[in-house]
Amino acid sequence: MTAYPLTSHLMQRGCDFLGSKYAILCGAMSWVSERHLVSAISEAGGFGVIACGAMTPELLDAEIAGTRALTARPFGVNLITMHPQLFELIEVCVRHGVGHVVLAGGIPPKGSVEAIKAGGAKVICFAPTLALGKKLLRSGADALVIEGMEAGGHIGPVSTSVLAQEILPALAEEHLVFVAGGIGRGEAVAGYLEMNACGVQLGTRFACASESIAHPDFKKAFFRASARDAVASVQVDPRLPVIPVRALKNKGTEAFTAKQLEVARALDEDGIAMDEAQLQIEHYWAGALRRAVIDGDVEGGSLMAGQSVGMVTKEEPVTEIIANLLAESEAALARR
Ligand SMILES: Cc1cc2nc3c(=O)[nH]c(=O)nc-3n(C[C@H](O)[C@H](O)[C@H](O)COP(=O)(O)O)c2cc1C
Repeated sequence: MTAYPLTSHLMQRGCDFLGSKYAILCGAMSWVSERHLVSAISEAGGFGVIACGAMTPELLDAEIAGTRALTARPFGVNLITMHPQLFELIEVCVRHGVGHVVLAGGIPPKGSVEAIKAGGAKVICFAPTLALGKKLLRSGADALVIEGMEAGGHIGPVSTSVLAQEILPALAEEHLVFVAGGIGRGEAVAGYLEMNACGVQLGTRFACASESIAHPDFKKAFFRASARDAVASVQVDPRLPVIPVRALKNKGTEAFTAKQLEVARALDEDGIAMDEAQLQIEHYWAGALRRAVIDGDVEGGSLMAGQSVGMVTKEEPVTEIIANLLAESEAALARR
């Protein structure tokens, strides 16, 4: 007997797919989603996802083993498609018998979905539009995440509510679709479940959990911030398409503008290739996020956060965050 029968019923397909008690994913957050937070989420009945980010295959190998040592429950691994060693990282996941691989950061390169599935794992992809969602499913994706621009980290241009209305009615009856971006309370979870989502993914709400290794100053910045402090980065050069990143406004926001100008100049004057220019931008973010999350440099580092940051007011154990979300969802569904 579950304490949240209405919510659990609507999450059942997602739970069967993930092998977790609740279809609540903690979205991978570079530097934050390591063994401690990931295992805590899975132990609490959610689904933790390791953020591989720029890790080498050796580091990912150690992180998966470390997470396994802390939980026997299922968890996933998030791989960035533009990682130069993507296929070696896939091999590491397969060797460890990881059940679910999330491919983030663009359309999966040829052969990657097949390699993951041949190794026995399920593939979860991000669908930025309905057409791409259909294509990803045809190419073998087992489930989709739709993520709106309210989210923290790298974002697309469309809000969660619009993506949900465009994509869920078309795909969610027959396919597994998780909704992410801007979810701070259980009422929103209930709303997306009622639209046929099979589950939800949250990042910002979990970043400051007691089990998160994020620096105390990083967490304090979240507790102080409101929705309007979590702003999307601005592209300064039309030739340099930069994927926007949502983060709390600080000196690092301006430093990013300067970095873009520097890379744009290198495009002009040093003739670097566009790929290289974009990789430099991504390396900038990875470094800046590490400075904020690990070193606590909340002025110069990147405080990636979604608009739901205003609903993060104190440090709480993962079990409490999940219990609150479920209780709010259940109460909302019971009122219908
Ligand atoms: C600090 C931070 C780092 C993130 N890093 C990644 C990442 O490395 N890979 C990824 O796919 N998503 C990343 N995300 C997005 C989350 O996985 C998740 O989808 C998002 O936070 C959900 O929206 P929300 O922030 O509104 O809850 C990050 C988000 C935050 C807040």
